[in-house]
Order: sequence, then C-alpha cells, then structure tokens
Amino acid sequence: MSKRKMTIPDFRTYKQEGKKFAFTTAYDYTMASIVNDSDVEIILVGDSLGMTMLGYSTTVGVTMDDMIHHIKPVVRGAPDTFIVGDMPFGSYQESTEQAIHNASRMLMETNCDCIKLEGGAVMAPTIRRMVDVGIPVMGHIGLTPQSAISLGGFRVQGGTPETAAKILQDAKALEQAGVFSIVLECVPAVLGKAVTESVQIPILGIGAGPDVDCQILILHDMMGMYGDFKPKFVKQFAHIREDMVAGLNEFHKETLSGEFPTPEYSYNKKVEIPDLGD
Ligand code: KIV
Repeated sequence: MSKRKMTIPDFRTYKQEGKKFAFTTAYDYTMASIVNDSDVEIILVGDSLGMTMLGYSTTVGVTMDDMIHHIKPVVRGAPDTFIVGDMPFGSYQESTEQAIHNASRMLMETNCDCIKLEGGAVMAPTIRRMVDVGIPVMGHIGLTPQSAISLGGFRVQGGTPETAAKILQDAKALEQAGVFSIVLECVPAVLGKAVTESVQIPILGIGAGPDVDCQILILHDMMGMYGDFKPKFVKQFAHIREDMVAGLNEFHKETLSGEFPTPEYSYNKKVEIPDLGD
C-alpha cells in the first residue's frame, strides 16, 4: 500500500484545516517499512535510539555517526513517509557553524526530510540562520531529554505559571525563528492546548494532552516492546514483547521436543548420500 508523502507546506495546511496527523519513531529498515505500510504520516529517527537500540540510560551518549547509521536504513524502508533526523547532544549547541555543518551532513548523507533539535528561545538565533540557509528545522520544547539531567530527570514540565510562560515564549520564539513545527513533550494538557492555540505552526505533542495538532508516541513504547519503563502518557496499542517471548518459548519447546522442524520446514529432496568410509 502506498500513501502520499507529507511535505513541509502540508504541515501549515493541516494546521489551518484542523487536520490531525500521527507521528512515531523507527530506527531500522524493517520497522520503517512497517510504519510505511501504515497510515502514520511521519517517522522520527530519534536519539531515543540510545535507549531503545543501544541500551543507554539517557540519550546523551548518542553520536552523529550513530544517527546517520540508523537514519539511512529508515529512509530506504519508508519512501512514502516524511522522515525526521534527530540532532544528537553536542552536535549543534556549540555554534551556529557547528549546527549548520552537522545538519547539512545529516541531510546530505541520509536524505531525510528535515532535522529536529532541542531547545527554546536560547536556540532561536541558531535556528534562524539554519532556516535562512535552507535547512528545514523542527523544534522540540517542554521536556527536552538531552537536558534531562539539568531538568532533574524525565519529569513533567510547565507545571507552574512561570515555567508555563517560559514554554509559551519558547514556542513563539521558535515560530519566529522559522521552524515549520514543534515537538512539545511532557507538559500538562492545559498547557498543550494553550501552546497549540498560540502559534500558526503544528504542535506535535508527546505527553502534551489531546488538544495538540499531532500525537507522537515512540514505536517501542506503544507497541509494548521496550521493557525498562513506561511513561504515564504511553498507551500500548499492541503487546509485541509478550508475543515475542511467547513465540520464542514455543520455538524453544518445539526444538527440545523435536516437533520442529516438520517436513514442511525441511528440504525433502531425496539425495543418495555416499559412504565416505572412515
Ligand atoms: O528521540 C526521540 O524519540 C524524541 C521523541 C521523544 C520526540 O525526541
């Protein structure tokens, strides 16, 4: 099944028309091809791969080379899906030149459709310059996992009038800097609604309540694959981990009993086996 791939102008049109859309992650060819077969419009190759694929406890250790290694097969697996490449920690904060250099490398080496980076008003001057030189940028505010240590862990953000005001200001600053959409992570639903109503570009919410323009969930979380922890905002739409463990146990049992493989799973051509003697 093929679908029409979303374009950057579509983001603003969808917002104007009040059309909702959905966004998930993928980090390899097979998962990307499964998402491509679904109706989900966008794939993020997120630096969350540090946790889901590499077993780190945060996203901080992920490198540009890790990201490029994972984005390439996703682009090959999902030709009909808009693909976002995530800029890892340390690849864009140093200077505008560093951000442009690494974002260009990501776009050129992987052929993804845009890059995403974390940070609010503080990143606006860098983003303005990136957009001016032709780099499509998606913003990310609220809980920014690369700063989780400074934020005191993976916690809900914007829970006081002051911090809520800061997130609203961050959204405005990013919109003015030229991002075409903003990920808003882990904030009270009422703030998700206020941010969504405060800008003309789509707000892509993950744990930001029902009133955002687009919902995001990490594939490994919502398919019930990642077993280390489950944030409150994650609904599991499938239970792949349980299904896989059950399947593996069945395989183990049939291997031990000899039930597997039957002739159906064997090459049954008759071959005269020569006697090679001793
Ligand atoms: O890396 C990631 O998967 C993300 C999502 C949490 C939006 O940035």
